[in-house]
Amino acid sequence: MTPRAPIVLDSDPGIDDAVALQYLLGTGLWDLKAYTSVGGNLPAEQTYLNARALARAMRIDTDVPVHRGAGRPLTRLPYRVAADFHGPAGLGDEKLPDSTAAHPAESSAQTLLRLSREYEGELTVCATGPLTNVAIALLEDPGFARRVKKFVFMGGAARVPGNITPVAEFNMWADPDAAELVLSSGIPFTMVDLDASHRWLFRPADLAALEAAGPGTALAARLLRVYMEAYRGSGGDGTCPLHDPLAVGVCADESFVTLAEGAVIVESAAELTRGQTVFVPSAAGRIYYPESPALTARARLTGRVALGAGPRDFTKDFVTTLQLWPTVG
Ligand code: BDR
Ligand code: CA
Repeated sequence: MTPRAPIVLDSDPGIDDAVALQYLLGTGLWDLKAYTSVGGNLPAEQTYLNARALARAMRIDTDVPVHRGAGRPLTRLPYRVAADFHGPAGLGDEKLPDSTAAHPAESSAQTLLRLSREYEGELTVCATGPLTNVAIALLEDPGFARRVKKFVFMGGAARVPGNITPVAEFNMWADPDAAELVLSSGIPFTMVDLDASHRWLFRPADLAALEAAGPGTALAARLLRVYMEAYRGSGGDGTCPLHDPLAVGVCADESFVTLAEGAVIVESAAELTRGQTVFVPSAAGRIYYPESPALTARARLTGRVALGAGPRDFTKDFVTTLQLWPTVG
């Protein structure tokens, strides 16, 4: 049997963050070393409480520490919360009990740093919220970038419109300075953006499958029902994208998406383009304005960027894998 690989999930739960955790556990592929929360969908204190409650509901709270994360973006005013999509406290209509685990003194960023040293060259970091914790870790110790094996994050819109402004995706917009710091650090990144997550939709038939699967997927079904309704309320067709679960999926199997190599520069200077992810493909075959300091300085700091769906059906894998990790509550 292949040993499970060390991973940290850095997250701002949030409905899709919540089911991303259940999916991660269901794969059986990962040794989850920590569940680090960050402010984003809700203020940091709430995402921390949600992460603790989810750890309890998923029966991992005695083994996996949950850490409190950054309470505001690096340089900006507090996060603009996304309660309209995730419910007033971030987990739909749920009122899940808190975990009885002790509150660790170590912050999310400190935990990321420590684990990058303990598992140097082996650790996968998957981020499904704003990149503030990861940026703080890099500010503290830039060597973090070369110690992690892989950094996969949900965020950005390479070639499609944004979801919080016409050009920006929510996680990048929420803390664009952090995102820019991370993507210019040399960290081996894979960007799982709206280009890919809007291609793997969770449909009413998938919800029916989870509802029929019994009590172990009842929490996920209730959460996803709220998420689907929120998307419908903002002009959707009754489906919802599987943003954060897809990032977790790509940590293990890149065939859920199609990837291209390139640099990503996050706009943070202007109001209207805040959080826009400018994708500069490595194989552009053309010279972009060579005097541009941004473009030339970033030419070698490339990563992998999802440009669409891949051959393997992610939604199908998600629905079956959730059933392998029954939750309580
Ligand atoms: C991202 O924004 C958040 O609201 C979701 O949890 C996801 O991480 C999608 O743009
Ligand atoms: Ca999220």
